Amino acid sequence: MKQAYVAPSILTVDKAEIPATIAKLEQGGADFLHFDVMDGIFVPNKTYTFDEYEEISRLHHMINDVHLMVVKPLEYAKKYAELGADFITFHIEAVKDINEAINIVNVIHSYGKKAGISIKPATAPMTILPLLPILDLVLIMSVEPGKGGQKFLNSALDKIAFLCKYIDKWHLSTLLEVDGGINDITGKACREKGVDILVAGSYIVGHDDLKARIDSLK
Ligand code: DX5
Ligand code: ZN
Repeated sequence: MKQAYVAPSILTVDKAEIPATIAKLEQGGADFLHFDVMDGIFVPNKTYTFDEYEEISRLHHMINDVHLMVVKPLEYAKKYAELGADFITFHIEAVKDINEAINIVNVIHSYGKKAGISIKPATAPMTILPLLPILDLVLIMSVEPGKGGQKFLNSALDKIAFLCKYIDKWHLSTLLEVDGGINDITGKACREKGVDILVAGSYIVGHDDLKARIDSLK
C-alpha cells in the first residue's frame, strides 16, 4: 500500500487559535494545509475572507490546498490563484456543464496552479471521467460538504477504487484526495483503495498528540 499525504483541515479551529495550530501541524509533518472556502450559498456555512486566507497562507510553508464550496467557482478560483494557492479545487455540482468546468481548469492552469474537481457523495465518478486527463486532482467527498466532524460514508471507497483503476489504466498523473470523516481506520481503508491525499479535520486538530495522529494516516 502506498503512503498518503496528509492535508489537515483547519475548518473547526477558532480563528484566534489558527497560528498556533498551523505551527503544530507543520512541525507534525503535515504535507498540505487544506483550506475550506464556503460562500454560505453552495453550503449553508460561510468561512474566511480573502484577507484572512492571505494572512494564514503567510504563516506556513505547507502546500496550500484550497477547497472551494462556492456557487461562483471561476471568480473564487481566480482570486485564490492570485493569492498564491497551490491546488485549487471546485465542485462539479457548481458548474452548468463540462465546458464550464474545462474553462475554469484552463484558467487555474493559466496562473500556473494545480486544478482539482470535487464530487459530492451523490455524484457518480463517471461524471468527471472525461475531465481526468486535464485534472491534477480529484477530491472525493466522503461526507456532505459544509461542516467538519461528520461520519465517513463508505460509498467513497468504491469511488476511489474506480477512479484509481482508470488513472492507472490510462497512465494519468491525477491525484486522488478524500475529505470527510477521515481517521486512522477510514484513512487506511482509503489508502487500500489507492487514495493519494487524506484530508482530516476533527481527527487531527484540537488534540495534543497531533503528530502521532498525522503519522497514523500516512
Ligand atoms: C467539509 C470539509 C472538510 C472538513 C473535514 O465540508 O470539506 O474539509 O473540514 O472535517 P472532518 O475531518 O472533521 O470530517
Ligand atoms: Zn474540504
